[in-house]
Amino acid sequence: MRFDIITVLPELLESPFNHSILKRAKDRNLLEVYCHPLRDFATGKHRHVDDYQFGGGAGMVMKVEPLAACIEHLCSERQYDQIVYVTPDGAQLNQQMCNRLSMGENVMIICGHYKGIDERIRNQFVTMEISIGDYVLSGGELAAAVIVDAVGRLIPGVLNDETSALFDSFQDDLLAPPVYTRPAEWRGMKVPDVLLSGNDRLIEEWRHEQSLERTRLRRPDLYLKYVKGQGE
Ligand code: 6GU
Repeated sequence: MRFDIITVLPELLESPFNHSILKRAKDRNLLEVYCHPLRDFATGKHRHVDDYQFGGGAGMVMKVEPLAACIEHLCSERQYDQIVYVTPDGAQLNQQMCNRLSMGENVMIICGHYKGIDERIRNQFVTMEISIGDYVLSGGELAAAVIVDAVGRLIPGVLNDETSALFDSFQDDLLAPPVYTRPAEWRGMKVPDVLLSGNDRLIEEWRHEQSLERTRLRRPDLYLKYVKGQGE
């Protein structure tokens, strides 16, 4: 799977994909991530990528021409499954969206800055608008990094048995159960006996109960969805 990220701050995206699971995915040629500096597609002496907004008001807007030039250049080289614009007014990212995105071959991500991008770019090119939550970031880069991480790890072959996504929180609408490692006792606090029992069936049952209880207490919305889903 390939991601093409359009950004005015490529430096912000230098490190996030070069560690841990995503690095391994890249090393194994399962994942490619390319950043395209928008300024390279700007013309004129000053290579402006933003301008004042029509109608007045504080804050700059990202101009159409450099964005269109960059998007059209990328589209001339490959077919994109999605052209994503990361924006706080997009649909909120969830595991299901990540699962769907991970089935694509090529995904383009446009990072906004300032007041955002000219509306005509959204109407003309963008196929999907994603927010990563109800708070404001300074730009779309960190949101793009979140998407590449959450989606990249779902690409078949990226995770092995040990890191399997099957047991992640959210993968079945439930939060993950508590986990422990050695020592079995620390400052008087003991690891639950069942985890030391060696009885796989009991351990499985305990984990499922813990998942249910944790979800019920912390995320009643998810719990309701899960209980409804079980009834179908
Ligand atoms: Cl995708 N972009 C920005 N600038 N802020 C956000 C966001 C995206 N998602 C949540 N806040």
